[in-house]
Parts: sequence; C-alpha cells; structure tokens
Amino acid sequence: MLKVLIALLYVGNICDTLRSQPRKLFTYSLPDKRPLKQALGYIEDSYFNFTELATKYEFTSEEHIVKTSDGYLLTIFRILTKCNTLKRYPVLLMHGIYDSSDAWILSGPQTGLGYILSRNCYDVWAGNNRGNRYSRKHVRLNPDRDVKFWDFSFDEIGNFDIPAIIDYMLSVSKKSKVYYIGHSQGTTDFFVMTSLQPSYNDKVQLAIQLAPVSIMKHITNPILKVVAQGSENIKNILDSLGLQELSAVNQIEHFILEKLCQVAPAPICGTILYITTGYKQDTISARTLTIAFGHLLVGVSAKTLAHFGQLILFQKFQRYNEGLQGNLKRYGSVSPPEYNVSQITCPIVLVCGQNDYVSTLQDIDELSSKLPNVVEKYIVPDPTFSHNNHVWGVDAPKLVFKRILQFFSEFDKT
Ligand SMILES: *[C@@H]1O[C@H](CO)[C@@H](O)[C@H](O)[C@H]1NC(C)=O
Ligand SMILES: *[C@@H]1O[C@H](CO)[C@@H](O)[C@H](O)[C@H]1NC(C)=O
Repeated sequence: MLKVLIALLYVGNICDTLRSQPRKLFTYSLPDKRPLKQALGYIEDSYFNFTELATKYEFTSEEHIVKTSDGYLLTIFRILTKCNTLKRYPVLLMHGIYDSSDAWILSGPQTGLGYILSRNCYDVWAGNNRGNRYSRKHVRLNPDRDVKFWDFSFDEIGNFDIPAIIDYMLSVSKKSKVYYIGHSQGTTDFFVMTSLQPSYNDKVQLAIQLAPVSIMKHITNPILKVVAQGSENIKNILDSLGLQELSAVNQIEHFILEKLCQVAPAPICGTILYITTGYKQDTISARTLTIAFGHLLVGVSAKTLAHFGQLILFQKFQRYNEGLQGNLKRYGSVSPPEYNVSQITCPIVLVCGQNDYVSTLQDIDELSSKLPNVVEKYIVPDPTFSHNNHVWGVDAPKLVFKRILQFFSEFDKT
C-alpha cells in the first residue's frame, strides 16, 4: 500500500528522471510553454508572474533581491501604495508550501490581500523562500548541479530567509518593526525564526498566522498520515535518485495540474484540495482555482517534505532529525531539540479554519497554550473554512481580511 502511494506521489518526478540524465534533470531546458498556453486559451493570470499580475491590475511593484547570511538570493516583491501617507509598519506576507508570493494577489484586484492592504495604505512586501521559482539562486551554489543547494527545510527558511527579509525591509523602509502575515508553512517559518532567534520578536509588531502549522498530532489528511510513516525511506529513495527539488514549474506535475485546472477547475483541482485539506466545493471560485493551480507547485525541497513528515511521525515540533551521528554533530544531542515556542514573545493572532485537515483546532490549541503572547485565537465563523480559504476563499475578504485590518488599526497606534 505504502509503495503504491509513494509511487503515485512521486510518479511525476520519476517521469522526469527517466526523461533526463541524473543530476541534469533539474535544468530548465524545457521550452517556454507560454505560446502554447496562449494558443490553448489559458486564463493569462494563471501564467503571469507577480510583476505582470500587479501591472495588469494597475499596481506598481518592485523586485528586490535579498541575500541571506548563507548565500541564498531571494526575490521579494513590494507593492507601491498609491496613498500619500503610509501606515506606520510595513507588512511582510509569507506564503505556504508549494507556493510563492503570487498567492497573495492571484485572486484579483478586489479580493487579493496584497492589493487590499496596499489600498489601505500599507507598504506591502511579499516574500519568496529559498528554492521556489523566484528564489532559485545562490551566490556560489548552482541549483541545477549542487545537491547542497537543496539541503534545507523550513528550519533554514525560518532561521535564515525570514530574518534576512525582515532586516532588508526595515533597512529600506527605515522602520523599526514589521507586521507579519504567514499562511501554512509561512507560519511554521515564523515559529522557527522567533524560537531559534528570539531577538526577532522585537522586530515584529504583530504576527497574523493563517492556518498555523507547528505541532502536527491531529492532522486528518489520510495521505499525509500514511506517507509520514515512510518519510525516511522516501527521502532516501529520492536522494538516491538525485531528486532534491520537487514539484518545480518545469516539472510534469505542475504542467498536468495547471492544464487540468484550466478545463475542469472544480472537479479536478477542487477534489485535490478536498483530499489534501478538507476543502468544500465552491468556497473558492472556479476562476481563482484555475489561476491558483498555475501558481502552485513552484518548487520545494525534498527535505522540507521530509521534515513535515517527521513532525507528523514524532508528534513534536522539533528540528530536523539528521540521524544519530548527524544529530550529535549538529545539535550535540542524540535526538533533535524541540523548537522552544515559549520564546515567541511577540503578539500573535492565530486564525483557524474549522474544516482544515492540516492545521487542526486541536493542534492549534496545544500551540496556543504554549505561546506566551496570543492576542486572539480567531476561529473563522464558517464551518466549511479550510486550509486555502484563508487566502483565496470567496469569503476571505469578509471573514479574514477585514479582521486583519481591524487588528492592524489597533496595533498601528502602539
Ligand atoms: C516576469 O515576467 C516578465 C515578462 O515575461 C519578465 O520580463 C520578468 O523578468 C519576470 N519577472 C520575474 C521576477 O520572474
Ligand atoms: C524555553 O524558553 C523558556 C522561556 O525563555 C525557558 O524558560 C526554558 O528554559 C526554555 N526551555 C528549554 C528546553 O530550553
């Protein structure tokens, strides 16, 4: 059973392997598919990048390159506000797994959180973690050739990427603090940062965590549960195949899903979201689903998936298990240490969906009981609300974004 699942999940990557030379399978040598997509009548928003989307909807955006202390080059985007006076703190939006900065604007000018915040006079920045399509660069390492490039999970993203982005924003905007809004893994990254480097708590005025993920004892996603059991083996198999980068834009699963969602967004892509996150049909519009799947699966490291697998398996929010020798070398202990979330002293709002297979109310309760400074645990008052509804849902502007603006206007004053 497990073998079948593994095979199914990674069939896309294995196809890629067969088509190419080992180690060369990451090269972006596939032809640009844009002319083909145009000819097939794709909704252009599904293949437009951040800059193109913002321009189309008459927002001005800037591209900035942030260098982390370990040499990764991250592309982050800033939306320039049209207001004469900016609000007091800039906002950092941090996407989830398989995702990118585009998540915050792809649903369109009226409903994208990035645009809404910008219209409300906030200085909006959307980050991209190492390894995704916008942050596939390093001062020394080549993502197509150096396996070392892919040797990271959300631990490194939280420990290096988010601090570098925050420091960059503070220095450009000449402000002392930021607002942080994370979705899914974007929340995990934040919990890692502030527990490993508590000094960053002082650089965050307020953190809004949408569908927070830390402790994963109660996930109800059946596939994840089974796969987690085999995550060590899967990681070993992938390593031996030379597969450190998964689900990138040029890989086949991205292409297939993007195509299927152009023709049948609700039955195909809605069903995928249902199986993985508990999504209820029609709570995200068909158009947004179509566009979203053009922007999903844009690159993740196998180690990130393996680390989430470990969280599920060991039922603890802990650092990456490198094995006995590796743990002794890296942490000076036999097993990896837990992230000490009681170090997270900055104010936090937890935003929870009642129908989320990945970020469950029970797990959030446990996290919440350990966090010293929870402003509010906001349970979205809609029983169908699931993992991605927080960002793309038809009702997100009404049920989530309005609340965010209320929290911000309260914290703008202090
Ligand atoms: C976005 O797309 C435009 C047009 O294809 C391209 O010139 C630009 O470099 C892209 N930006 C990024 C950050 O990929
Ligand atoms: C975790 O952080 C708290 C608060 O700073 C501290 O009192 C506690 O000793 C830490 N626990 C561990 C295991 O380091």
